[in-house]
Amino acid sequence: MKKGERLYEGKAKILFKTDDPDLLIQHFKDDATAFDGIKKGTIIGKGLANNAISTYLFELLAKNGIKSHFEKKLSDNEMAIKNVKIIPVEVVIRNVSTGSLCKRYGIKEGIIFNRPIVEFYFKNDALHDPLMNKDHIISLGFANAEETNIIREQALKVNEILQGFFNSINVTLVDFKLEFGRFKGQVLLADEISPDTCRFWEKGTNRKLDKDRFRHDLGDVEKTYKEMMTRIVGD
Ligand code: C5P
Repeated sequence: MKKGERLYEGKAKILFKTDDPDLLIQHFKDDATAFDGIKKGTIIGKGLANNAISTYLFELLAKNGIKSHFEKKLSDNEMAIKNVKIIPVEVVIRNVSTGSLCKRYGIKEGIIFNRPIVEFYFKNDALHDPLMNKDHIISLGFANAEETNIIREQALKVNEILQGFFNSINVTLVDFKLEFGRFKGQVLLADEISPDTCRFWEKGTNRKLDKDRFRHDLGDVEKTYKEMMTRIVGD
């Protein structure tokens, strides 16, 4: 596969065309942003860690029946992915209260939910990714009813699989964000699954093992990405 021109550059990743119209190269950067891009920085080794972690988790999900855009890992910072058309809906699953949920509803951090909360956000930086419901998605034409149901069900299935895995490595999967895309008539899981898009707390201590260390200046940011890579992928 030959790497072609740059198709799109986001805050943490770059997409390149390839000589196969069905495939793209997803490059993971060390750049980090938070709070709608207000806070910017570099986390050395983040791209490498997020590529390795996403690869591992997409492969784990595939073994458990979840289809995604992931094709194969190409190098330290790059993976080949299917050329999906991203649906502009960010799906957030929450198992424990924290982050914007606590702010929005005035509740304390650390409440463990009996059933996961599923939230949808409109993926639009200019509008600051507003919260929306299923009716907004369908009536505003972002996805049809069938796609919206698939997205919700797949996200809950991903949660079950990932919770099982993270429990086994002594980590609580607090919450995470997923994106989906269309490819040849199918809805596929897309984007990445990494400490940039998930919150992980160490069981027992509740030590934060994700991008919150960067967001809130908690220190040991680079070390934490490396630690999560080792915990997930192994040495
Ligand atoms: O900030 P908030 O509490 O809504 O984030 C919920 C989850 O979604 C967190 O795991 C966060 O990392 C992820 N997220 C994301 N990209 C966004 C917003 C949230 O990956 N644009």
